[in-house]
Amino acid sequence: MGGDTLNEDKRIDMTRAILVTGGAGYVGSHTVAYLLENMGNDLEIVVVDNLINSYRSKPGQKKPESLRIIEDMTGKTIHFYNCDIRDVQAMHRVFQNHLIECVIHFAALKAVGESVTKPLEYYQANVSGTCTLFEVMRDHGVHKLVYSSSCTVYGEPQRLPLDETHPTGAGLTNPYGRSKYFCEEIMKDLCASDKKWSVISLRYFNPVGAHPSGRIGEDPRGTPNNLMPYIAQVAVGRLEELQVFGSDYPTVDGTGVRDYVHVQDLAEGHAGALACFNKTEFTGFHAINLGTGTGYSVLQMVAAFEAASGKRVPWRVAARRAGDVAVNYADASLAARTLGWRARRTLADMCADTWRWQSTHPHGYAT
Ligand SMILES: NC(=O)c1ccc[n+]([C@@H]2O[C@H](COP(=O)([O-])OP(=O)(O)OC[C@H]3O[C@@H](n4cnc5c(N)ncnc54)[C@H](O)[C@@H]3O)[C@@H](O)[C@H]2O)c1
Repeated sequence: MGGDTLNEDKRIDMTRAILVTGGAGYVGSHTVAYLLENMGNDLEIVVVDNLINSYRSKPGQKKPESLRIIEDMTGKTIHFYNCDIRDVQAMHRVFQNHLIECVIHFAALKAVGESVTKPLEYYQANVSGTCTLFEVMRDHGVHKLVYSSSCTVYGEPQRLPLDETHPTGAGLTNPYGRSKYFCEEIMKDLCASDKKWSVISLRYFNPVGAHPSGRIGEDPRGTPNNLMPYIAQVAVGRLEELQVFGSDYPTVDGTGVRDYVHVQDLAEGHAGALACFNKTEFTGFHAINLGTGTGYSVLQMVAAFEAASGKRVPWRVAARRAGDVAVNYADASLAARTLGWRARRTLADMCADTWRWQSTHPHGYAT
């Protein structure tokens, strides 16, 4: 193990900490904000992020813009390390500097299309990175982790709604999806090898929305891969029109149907998962869906966004994208039973909050 080991006296004086990998990114930053807004001062937040998909607004600024704004909003400090989760020595130093109790692991590359052309980069960052993180955790006696998984692991739905007993791993069409599936399998093996481990894998459906303040939100690099930021960028005039991939699916209007879930609800789901680590039944591996249980089509999303923003969102139909499924939505009852979690925010909330962020930040954090 690299570096010095902390002596017991120093540990006694330290504040308990949650390590958030990828905490400067979209879902991570909203979860960090939620935790700081809702937890006591006896817990601190430590973020590790290599900034591959997040921003520093000014040269020389130490913290990414999302975290700087959260500190401003909450009046609390975030301990930030600009490092890669695969940098073993740097990760050891983080665990030596803080009394980390558990980890929320967001850090990953997530662009589905890019993963097809750069599979090694994706497996390196998402799978090797996760293994490195687990090794460092083990070396420091930390065995509790909340993982950012995805409904992608279910592949083409064999039945709907998708519940956690639905098979995973079959028919996955891209390295990104497979990296999420492989990580879950590794976590199952790890938990089977030693009863000390507790891993809660949260399978997000389609995260959208922004903090109700409008001060933090989703800021994808380049042309958005996901529907909601694409619609928002068309509404704000940054992109000309929305491409609707496929209009001949067996759905209400022929366009694809997804289960959109507000990022603030997701943040609450992570807090619920952290609370479960105190319960003995939560040792081992647990996969839990985070979705609303309701699907909306692309054109229903466009209509809802137009209503919330008062802007027109021009669209045109393009060919289906390989690997896209017609419909998916969650059975979220396990989250209700185990985490006491339920998505509370409506489609109108998702659109209004996205618009508040996008209209005040047409170019994301760069403005
Ligand atoms: N947003 C979605 O649609 C969605 C859906 C399902 C699952 N997820 C998962 O949720 C997690 C967070 O997604 P997001 O939308 O917030 O993505 P994001 O890109 O906004 O955030 C990820 C953060 O991780 C950082 N990062 C990436 N690789 C890293 C590495 N090797 N070391 C350190 N930091 C690294 C990036 O700089 C970024 O700030 C990801 O694991 C993603 O796969 C996202």
